[in-house]
This record gives sequence, C-alpha cells and structure tokens, in this order.
Amino acid sequence: DLPARVRIHEVGPRDGLQNEKATVPTEVKADFIRKLADAGLTTIEATSFVHPKWVPQLADAEQLFPLISELPVELPVLVPNERGLDRALTLGARRIAVFASATESFAKANLNRTVDEALAMFEPVVARAKADKVHVRGYLSMCFGDPWEGPVPVHQVVRVCKALMDMGCDELSLGDTIGVATPAHVQSLLSQLNEEGVPTSAIGVHFHDTYGQALANTLAALQHGVTTVDASAGGLGGCPYAKSATGNLATEDLVWMLQGLGIDTGVDLGRLTATSVWMAAHLDRPSPSRTVRALSHK
Ligand code: HMG
Ligand code: MG
Repeated sequence: DLPARVRIHEVGPRDGLQNEKATVPTEVKADFIRKLADAGLTTIEATSFVHPKWVPQLADAEQLFPLISELPVELPVLVPNERGLDRALTLGARRIAVFASATESFAKANLNRTVDEALAMFEPVVARAKADKVHVRGYLSMCFGDPWEGPVPVHQVVRVCKALMDMGCDELSLGDTIGVATPAHVQSLLSQLNEEGVPTSAIGVHFHDTYGQALANTLAALQHGVTTVDASAGGLGGCPYAKSATGNLATEDLVWMLQGLGIDTGVDLGRLTATSVWMAAHLDRPSPSRTVRALSHK
C-alpha cells in the first residue's frame, strides 16, 4: 500500500546551493525560495548556520533569512552546534536540523569530530531547541555507503539513529549522501529501524541520484510507509565534503512519479519546472533533471 499524501522536504536552497561553485547572490536565493513557495512547496530548507569558512556558499545566512522569514511555509535551517543555534534563534528560526554521520570518516571531514563527539555537540543544541518548542530534524549521512569506508553496515546506522531519537529529535532523515543505495538495502534499513523501535512515521529519506537509483529507492521507502521525502528543485546539489556525491533526487522527477501514482503533493509541476529553468540560467548550467528537460522542451 502506498501513502495517500507525501510531504516533500525541499532542500535545493541548502543542499543544492551549498555545492555550486558559483556563489549565488542573496537576492537571487530569496527569489528562488519565494518561487518554490509559489510552486506549492511547504517545507523549504533555507540555509545553514555553519562556519562560513566551511561552506562559503551559505555564508550569507544572516542576510538571507530575514528576506524570507515571513513566507507562509516552514523554513528549516541546518545548525551544527550551539553557536549555530544562537544565530538561528536570533533570527526567529522555528525548525532546525542537526546533521550526524554513520561513519567516522565523514564525521571527521564534515564536522571535524568523531561520530560520538558530534553527537555530544548536538545534545545541548537539541535540548535547547526542544525547550523552545523548535522542531528538530536529525540528518544522518552515509547511511548506505561511504566514499572512504565502502558499504556501511546497517547496525552502525541504527545505533546513530537511535542516539538521535533518544536525544529528542522529532524526525530523522536517512541520507544516501553519495547515492549508492539500491531498493532492497533501503527496505532492510527501514525494517531494522522499526525492529529497534524507531517508527516509520519519524523517518524521512534523502537520496542522491549518482547511480540513477533515487526514484527506485524512494518507491521502496513509500512501499514501506515513509511519507517524508527530501528532494532538490532541478536536482541541484551534492556535498562539498563528499566529492563523489552528485545532485539530490530532483523534486520534479519525484513529483512526476507521485502524480502518476495518484499521490497528492500540492506542488504545481509547471511552476516548479519554470523555477528550475530560471535557476539553471543563474548558475549557467542546465538542470540534470530528466523531468525538467522533458517539460521545458515541450
Ligand atoms: P571546527 O573548526 O571544529 O570549529 O568546526 P570549532 O568548534 O573548533 O570552532 C572554531 C571557530 O569557529 C570558533 O571561532 C567558533 O566560534 C567558530 P573562534 O573562537 O576561533 O573565533 N564557529 C562558528 N562560527 C559560525 N557559526 C557556527 C560556528 N561554529 C563554530 N555555527 C564545525 C566545526 C561544526 C563548526 C564545522 O565543521 C562546520 O561548520 N561544518 C559544517 C559542514 C557542513 O555544513 N556540511 C554540509 C551539510 S551536511 C550535508 O550536506 C549532508 C546532508 O545533505 C545529508 C546527506 O546527503 O547525507 C544533510
Ligand atoms: Mg544531501
């Protein structure tokens, strides 16, 4: 059985733009987010309050957030530590995401910490956010494979997921950061999480399309009962600290599939495609999304 409705967690402005060589002007980012909201997306990850030297593309978070904060949509932001939380709360952010790793190599590359040191860093962040009734998402990267360590054992992923849930995260997002997952692997991870007491209702999926498996993996997750799916308009994205990562699942490809399955998303595919074509012109490269290409050549 497939769900009747899917919540799309749009990550283009954050996961997409953090990995573009060109630094997009703040006003263009704000327009991008406004257009995504106009297209019917209701959860749009806006930016990150991380160290500006680590992700220079998002160093304008303080300037960007006030330009969009009045939009009638959820605007989650990434926060790695208490310094990031202070910055986000000062601007009125009501949804944050911490981002853990299932592997030591990526924890070191992305956060300059071991897996457990990173969890310790998140603990006061989550506690303070929850005390303030701020919604907390817990990302987990490298849930399937890691560029340095190869395939990642399911039990290793489950351990960190449980730690994030125990800390008080409201939801998880399982990241296939380098896009190596295949559907049976997705289903076995979801089953194992359920067996260990993590309910499907708390789990979102975050696929990258490196091997063209993102939609197949999404369908496997939907069949398991997952109703939150991350995607990036036009398929923008990757990760600056995982070189083999390509773009995220394109939101247009996702919406095309969901429409065909009769699953409601509230997204206007025409408006969304026009937004990605507009963004591609700013970035001076075509969108890798097959659906964007098909619909914009009609
Ligand atoms: P560090 O160098 O260990 O930092 O970096 P530190 O804690 O030692 O602090 C050093 C200095 O940085 C201090 O300043 C801090 O105040 C400052 P000083 O006292 O020396 O003047 N600082 C900050 N400044 C501004 N904002 C902050 C902040 N924190 C410290 N928040 C740190 C540790 C976590 C900060 C760094 O590693 C970092 O910023 N990493 C972010 C990496 C990142 O954003 N990666 C991309 C997101 S993850 C992703 O894309 C995967 C995902 O899509 C899912 C998937 O696909 O897998 C989510
Ligand atoms: Mg990602």
